[in-house]
Amino acid sequence: MAEKDIFSEIPQLNYQEESGDYKNPESFDQLVEARRSCRVYTEESIPEEIVRKCLSLAVLAPNSSNLQPWQFYWVRSADKKQKIVEACLSQPAAATAQELIVAVAHPEMWRTSRKLMLDSFASQKDIEVPKSAISYYEKLVPLAYNQGFLGIFGRIKSCVLFFRGIKKPTPRGPVSKQDMRVWAQKSTALACQQLMLAFRANGYDTCPMEGMDEKRVRKVIDLPKGSEVCMIISAGKRAPNGIYGPRIRFDEKLFIHEV
Ligand SMILES: Cc1cc2nc3c(=O)[nH]c(=O)nc-3n(C[C@H](O)[C@H](O)[C@H](O)COP(=O)(O)O)c2cc1C
Repeated sequence: MAEKDIFSEIPQLNYQEESGDYKNPESFDQLVEARRSCRVYTEESIPEEIVRKCLSLAVLAPNSSNLQPWQFYWVRSADKKQKIVEACLSQPAAATAQELIVAVAHPEMWRTSRKLMLDSFASQKDIEVPKSAISYYEKLVPLAYNQGFLGIFGRIKSCVLFFRGIKKPTPRGPVSKQDMRVWAQKSTALACQQLMLAFRANGYDTCPMEGMDEKRVRKVIDLPKGSEVCMIISAGKRAPNGIYGPRIRFDEKLFIHEV
């Protein structure tokens, strides 16, 4: 049997959580089917509390190591909004939107989140946090996500992991700044989908947009170095001409494989 380690061991916990009383798969089916990319919105505004609620639901998305490498910039100022519309090439999905949210992937966020996680563990009163979890954030997280000056540490890791991987299953990355970009983008994209479903569930439509001038977007919202725009999500009430055509998906056999 494989040696037990931080990944394979089932920790002894004094915590249980019910899976909730969501027992309505049909309503989820409807929600997923009802989400379409909307390109034209009406002038009806979205109540602030709905936007806030949807953003709060978005950040409940699953994410790598719970390090939450995302940021959401809800563009409130009319001036900034206009500039973002222009940076989105004035596409109607942006120009007619009531709200614009810039979803940003932040590869360096792990440094802050790791500390927050350890603080959160330290402040737990009712739950005994397993030592393995503390050790994961204290030791493994910096080892895994730090790529070092000019990515040199990443290269060293890549070699070490290669040789380790000859004998046993081994995570091969992230071992470069590029890997870290992908790492942050994955989790951010999941939160984006959650945001769009949340808006739909609350009666509003959305459009994810990557058709934009990222450099200009960065400037408008003054993005920190290292972070990058994942997509911009517009939201509002669907106009009668908001959906450009029936949904097209190709034969599932192309995409879904049973192996
Ligand atoms: C990452 C990403 C970027 C996209 N960028 C744009 C965009 O710039 N403009 C646009 O009108 N739609 C954009 N879309 C929407 C897609 O065109 C749309 O999701 C696709 O055609 C499928 O349609 P559906 O969302 O209605 O199912 C984007 C979608 C994704 C996921």
